[in-house]
Amino acid sequence: MNAQARPLQLALAASLILGLGMAPAQAANPCNPCAAKAKNPCAAKAKNPCAAKAKNPCAAKNPCGAGARIDPKSITRPAGYKPYKGDATALLKDGEKLWNDTKLSTNGMSCNTCHQGHAAFEAGFAKPYPHFVQMAKDQAGLKKVHLDEMVQACMVMPMAAKPLVWESRELAALTAYTGQMQKTFKPAKGKAANPCAAKNPCAAKNPCAAKNPCAAKK
Ligand code: HEC
Repeated sequence: MNAQARPLQLALAASLILGLGMAPAQAANPCNPCAAKAKNPCAAKAKNPCAAKAKNPCAAKNPCGAGARIDPKSITRPAGYKPYKGDATALLKDGEKLWNDTKLSTNGMSCNTCHQGHAAFEAGFAKPYPHFVQMAKDQAGLKKVHLDEMVQACMVMPMAAKPLVWESRELAALTAYTGQMQKTFKPAKGKAANPCAAKNPCAAKNPCAAKNPCAAKK
């Protein structure tokens, strides 16, 4: 090898090593599927959830966010309704299971997907039922709802499923469980003042976050 070619070769080798060294940093993080911003449909909300509603990518995928109208009868207590009665402790236990069950919905969500840590509950949740709930007003035209009606409302709207059978153990269990939750609920200060919060499904915790296998290890 002649003396002139050598520095060039060294430079080539160095840039190759540098290039290889940088590649892994650019690869997608396999541990966190939500790391890539483009994959997080809720990322846009950080900017301004109220601006350009139609452009909110979350709204499009969420029947609740899209504000689709539903038949109020499907979530209104039927005449002569006698709620299922059972052992309170057993009902709470069943309710907790159902709360986390994605099979209840047709879109892969469970109640917990949106309501983890009291997320998506407005200040009015603390008041005795029946009471006003923005979503029930906007999408079903109801001025007031009972708790079991609100469970049905979330079954039909955000969960995109059929209402539960009115006198079923399942409805009684979810009602008991959410009733228990209401007792420990404290509205966040200033939350009620934000008129956008109720209509923005992104206000709920990012459903991706819960599925991040890395988060659990920390
Ligand atoms: C896609 C998100 C989403 C899912 C999934 C969801 N909810 Fe909701 N839920 C909401 C939102 C948003 C509100 C707030 C409505 C409002 O205040 O206008 C709400 C309100 C409620 C309320 C009434 C709070 C009040 O102010 O009285 C109850 C109870 C409730 N949900 C229970 C459930 C149950 C039970 C499930 C599962 C069967 C469920 N939710 C699934 C988004 C969701």
